[in-house]
Amino acid sequence: MAESMKGLRRTCRCAELSEEYIGKTVTVMGWVAKQRNKGGVVFVDLRDRSGIIQLIYEESTCGQENFEKAERMRAEFVVAATGNVVRREGAVNESLQTGTIEIKVTDTRILSESETPPFHIAEGITTREDLRLKYRSLDLRRPDMQRRLILRSRIVQYMREFMAAEGFLEIETPILCKSTPEGARDYLVPSRIRRGTFYALPQSPQLFKQLLMCSGFDRYFQIAKCFRDEDLRADRQPEFTQADMELSFVDVDDVIDVNERLIQYVVKKAIGLDVQLPLPRMKWIDAMNDYGSDKPDTRFGMKLKDVTELVRNCGFGVFADAAALAGGSVRGINVKGQGGMARKKIDALVTMAKGNGAKGLPYIALKEDGSVKCSFSKFMTQEEVDALIAAMDGEKGDLLFFAADKNTIVWNVLGALRLHLGEELGLIDHDRFDFLWVVDFPLLEWSEEENRFMAMHHPFTMPVEEDWHMIDTDPGKVRAKAYDIVLNGVELGGGSVRIHQNDIQEKMFEVIGLKPEEAQEKFGFLLTAFKYGVPPHAGLAYGLDRFVMLLTGAESIRDVMAFPKNKDAADLMSGAPDVVDDAQLRDLSIGIVAQE
Ligand code: AMO
Ligand code: AMP
Repeated sequence: MAESMKGLRRTCRCAELSEEYIGKTVTVMGWVAKQRNKGGVVFVDLRDRSGIIQLIYEESTCGQENFEKAERMRAEFVVAATGNVVRREGAVNESLQTGTIEIKVTDTRILSESETPPFHIAEGITTREDLRLKYRSLDLRRPDMQRRLILRSRIVQYMREFMAAEGFLEIETPILCKSTPEGARDYLVPSRIRRGTFYALPQSPQLFKQLLMCSGFDRYFQIAKCFRDEDLRADRQPEFTQADMELSFVDVDDVIDVNERLIQYVVKKAIGLDVQLPLPRMKWIDAMNDYGSDKPDTRFGMKLKDVTELVRNCGFGVFADAAALAGGSVRGINVKGQGGMARKKIDALVTMAKGNGAKGLPYIALKEDGSVKCSFSKFMTQEEVDALIAAMDGEKGDLLFFAADKNTIVWNVLGALRLHLGEELGLIDHDRFDFLWVVDFPLLEWSEEENRFMAMHHPFTMPVEEDWHMIDTDPGKVRAKAYDIVLNGVELGGGSVRIHQNDIQEKMFEVIGLKPEEAQEKFGFLLTAFKYGVPPHAGLAYGLDRFVMLLTGAESIRDVMAFPKNKDAADLMSGAPDVVDDAQLRDLSIGIVAQE
């Protein structure tokens, strides 16, 4: 039977107790982590968010009623215990912060009983994630989950502290919106009052924060929920949180400056690490050429090398054709010391490369005995192969992989291969925190699918002034005043200086094939505001979940969110998404069409 806590007050949390409390009477409340009945003595490990304290119930001193309750206690019962803090008589428990003390209980209550939980509530369990998500409230009792969510809360507080001190105002923006052009699919919410119309959940507060700049708020900040209907990955959720900001009367360096100091402040406070400023800045084109990625993991080398010129006229059609392609290239990576890699392993890498868009993965294995295995030797002369090995700094024992195709494919294939091998071969120093800015992104990217240029960031991103004259002649060359902040190969955040001049904005719409009427229809509200005096402005948004994931060493953002969705965007605990009543659908004039 559950008892009330009437007349009882908790005096502190379990692991807040220390030897300083010896001799004092305290009352703690929490969950039973473990109960051991030693006959005449019952030990209970009591857990709350601070940690664990051992309770000791001695039949001879705690009274029959209390002792019987202790005998009844099982894992996850909620218990209150009052008693004296004493030094442990038995062995000290080194693994507990409170390992030298215990509470000799004189009064106890069982506040709530528990059925046997579906999994053990402990750190580092190997229970299937689906089961953990289904019983999320239990999963969140586990110390590792608690530690991460507690740190998340503190990180948000540190951000707020810093931003407030820098003069940022926290202003909320709507969740029921008109769709903003961020590139992912929208989540839609039907309107009951204007049937047949829909709100979109915000993919980010982008346009609202720009409007707030138009309103003169000057510096805006928000911990903002964002929604994107896209394929999910370890670092992608349909519903996630941005630490979002916008500033007026600033340029790229001002945004970078305030954000570097924010990062330094938060990282120091959260995990005690000193981040050296200024952070490195890498041009987008260098990131792509050296790492095959716009979010390079610089914790290890194995950089890409461009060998296009060397193989332009060689006999291997795959290389020569790629070299002849507009925007094509041949590049390689040198995997040091892996020349003896088993054929089976190489085949698996070929399959992986094909999954990333390659048509093949030519390689040269330089064996320790001096022999060379080249997968395309029949198409090349010995001299050509030797020259290629030399260009790749190939030495005995190395394994060289090549990709030959359009640059986008070459970067993608080798970038992914590099990351895979870096991880697999243990080349990554997991204690390092490599922050860097990626800058000088192209303004536009060519879409093969749509046969037109699209905005790489979003269509409100300011072009680099010196490049603007090429907008008609060579639009692909125009760089953007955009920047991403990258940590250990993860895109932590991104932002840009925004266009605040109508003529540039109109031209931008024209280049991406957006007619004035369409622009007006899609974001007329922004364009209208822009008629009445726009301050130059710029901003940035962090993926807060990713930031916390990296600072806590979690493998997935699901481990730093209280109630995440699974890979099918479902909430296994509540059962969302779910069907709704016919009456609800009728209210909205919505009918469900059977799927084919
Ligand atoms: P962007 O689209 O780059 O920029 O988003 C900013 C950051 O949000 C994080 N992020 C995500 N995190 C988890 N799950 C997702 N599905 C997801 N999508 C994005 C990333 C990313 O870097 N309005 C602009 C910012 C600006 O220009 O100021 C924006 O939203 O860490
Ligand atoms: P093959 O002539 O099929 O034995 O191929 C020789 C080498 O070139 C192998 O390592 C293949 O993976 C690679 N290769 C073949 N075709 C292509 C292609 N279209 N693109 C890239 N690599 C290729």
